[in-house]
Amino acid sequence: MADTDWRNQTAATEFILLAFRDLPHLQILLFLVFLVSYIATMAANTLIVVLIETDRHLHTPMYFLLGNLSFLETCYTSAILPRVLASLLTRDRTISLSGCFTQLFFFGFLGATECYLLAAMSYDQYLAICKPLHYSTLMNTRFCLQLAAGSWLNGCLAIAIFVLFLSQLIFCGPNEIDHFYCDSIPLLELSCSDTHLVILMDFLLSCVFTLHPFLLTLTSYACIITTILRIPSATGRKKAFSTCSSHLIVVTVFYGTIMIVYLRPKREALRDPNKVFSLCYTVLTPLVNPLIYSLRNRVVKVALSKATCKCGFH
Ligand SMILES: *[C@@H]1O[C@H](CO)[C@@H](O)[C@H](O)[C@H]1NC(C)=O
Repeated sequence: MADTDWRNQTAATEFILLAFRDLPHLQILLFLVFLVSYIATMAANTLIVVLIETDRHLHTPMYFLLGNLSFLETCYTSAILPRVLASLLTRDRTISLSGCFTQLFFFGFLGATECYLLAAMSYDQYLAICKPLHYSTLMNTRFCLQLAAGSWLNGCLAIAIFVLFLSQLIFCGPNEIDHFYCDSIPLLELSCSDTHLVILMDFLLSCVFTLHPFLLTLTSYACIITTILRIPSATGRKKAFSTCSSHLIVVTVFYGTIMIVYLRPKREALRDPNKVFSLCYTVLTPLVNPLIYSLRNRVVKVALSKATCKCGFH
């Protein structure tokens, strides 16, 4: 096709998110499943944030970071699910160009911030398990605040640069996105501009911003596991491992699904398996994270039962 072909066309002003169009008989069921998981995610994560803010026993770096993570999960699902719900209900699958970029911005911002928060949390665990004597001096309130603020700032910076580059692209031809939210890879495929620079930027930003929290998480856990294996008594090992296992599960699921979706060699083939994995980290992890953290955690359970008692008696 000649280069001039697309110049003559008008630029696309909206996209169509095909989402689950190929499952017409399941629309109502999907709507109900997503609605229930959205409400449950919001309720569980909000409960954790409120609990951590109100219970003095939970005013420690680990729980502050967990509160940040739960707050992030409520925003994260809210960036994706309400739109999916609306389009399942109204069958209106269009999304404006600016709406698409806004969604991409928030989704990317919160995703990148989550990488940093998970890294901060594993660093906290590392200090607690590997440097227990220096923990309280190293992990003071000020440093914790810096870690939290740094996470949000870095996440925002990374995605702002990327979206800035992405917004320079021209979209003119096909505007159907075979996904349930605006993601960068299908968007890049639709552009009729030269995307090499954006893809290069994407790669560089991923290296600078996500590789580095990922490596920090990995090293923290390598140190934690070697320290735990060196504990002589079996009960001591078990106890130490149980404190960090919830975090390890969350980290593994988060990075595992992301890697499957984004690091697959054939980027054009963004089809159903990817949608399923995307469902994992957009719907499942925000719902399951608070459950993994809280229900396996005695301190949170005690705080929860205290809070329910108080509410019952007043
Ligand atoms: C996030 O972390 C900061 C720093 O420790 C803390 O002050 C703040 O309360 C946390 N926010 C939430 C919503 O938990």
